[in-house]
Amino acid sequence: MAGTHYAATLPQKGGPLLVEKRVTPEPGPNEVLIEVKAVALNPVDYFQRDLGMPPVPIYPAVIGSDTAGLVVKAGSKVTTAPAPGSRVIAFASSFYQNGSPDHGAFQKYVLAQSEAVVALPDTLSFEEGAVFPLAVLTALTAWTTIGIPIDTTNKYAPQDKQAALIWGGASSVGTFAIQSAKTLGFTVYATASPKHHDYLKKLGADAVFDYNLGDVVSQIVTAAKKDGVKLYIAHCVVDGALQPTLDVLKQTKGDAVAKVAHSPVLPPDHPTLDNTEITFNFPSMDTAARDKHIHQCFQVWLQDGLKSGSVVPSPTLQVEGGGLEGLNLALDKLKAGVSGTKIVVPI
Ligand SMILES: NC(=O)c1ccc[n+]([C@@H]2O[C@H](COP(=O)([O-])OP(=O)(O)OC[C@H]3O[C@@H](n4cnc5c(N)ncnc54)[C@H](OP(=O)(O)O)[C@@H]3O)[C@@H](O)[C@H]2O)c1
Repeated sequence: MAGTHYAATLPQKGGPLLVEKRVTPEPGPNEVLIEVKAVALNPVDYFQRDLGMPPVPIYPAVIGSDTAGLVVKAGSKVTTAPAPGSRVIAFASSFYQNGSPDHGAFQKYVLAQSEAVVALPDTLSFEEGAVFPLAVLTALTAWTTIGIPIDTTNKYAPQDKQAALIWGGASSVGTFAIQSAKTLGFTVYATASPKHHDYLKKLGADAVFDYNLGDVVSQIVTAAKKDGVKLYIAHCVVDGALQPTLDVLKQTKGDAVAKVAHSPVLPPDHPTLDNTEITFNFPSMDTAARDKHIHQCFQVWLQDGLKSGSVVPSPTLQVEGGGLEGLNLALDKLKAGVSGTKIVVPI
């Protein structure tokens, strides 16, 4: 008979999450069963809990996407996953598995597609490992969304003087936007509150600007001109930042077609700019294309970056207790707003 485990289930739209037993699933051919040791939280988790958006097709649901833990068992066709007992990072999201509750992170045993399971280096804790999955996927998808391959063997050289603007650099996604921009060879400009500037420079930002200042746009434009860089690429990571992003690009893009990846949902009446493509940042909904992209993000970019040390956990961890029972409160804290931290819950 199959075993059972505890899960934080979402019984209906509006929550709260309830801790109850579920049957522990067997991995499908291309899946890995993982014993979860830590989860990290993302804004999408409280959107799904409280509003049922993005759509939750099956209730009771199990939401969440970011895990680190131990491999229990791999499916018959899996060739890439570490052996049972190995420490791993895994992107485990029911959203990308038609709402299947076996695939949501907020439970003790979860299924993840093998492309999204990466060895966790001995130097990192489970809590540190959990911060990567959705933020890395989102930061890297932003590049491919605007036509920039995430192939670090073919990166820009310093003499290319190719810059990228990351608006919202201290956010969880923003920190990986900075780290990935660096690995792709960009001169990296970011915006953040002053208390995060030194940290973001350590992650790879060349210059960081305080978005609270009235002249932030002219500060960035002045820096781009002084540095002699081409600046027509931006990742607008946080809500409400598209207008100042476009205000910068208007003055720096020259004749180039500017390209902006926008991570929050794009409102229908969003601002625009001539000769500028603004695209909602989201992975392909074609399964084969998405699996290939996920492979590139996790098996190549993240795995190589962890091995070489060019990619590190970010932003600063905010560890919350309570295990599965503590997830409602931890989600409420995230919803109330964080500044330069990633909320992680040991399970
Ligand atoms: N499209 C997708 O697939 C996808 C996936 C994941 C996330 N997202 C979206 O991406 C966004 C970021 O998510 P996250 O988890 O990275 O957020 P987060 O870590 O919760 O973001 C918090 C940070 O946002 C910064 N911030 C807020 N307003 C800002 C502004 N006007 N300018 C610059 N920085 C600002 C704050 O910076 P300071 O501390 O410096 O003040 C704070 O550190 C959210 O809207 C989320 O829903 C989309």
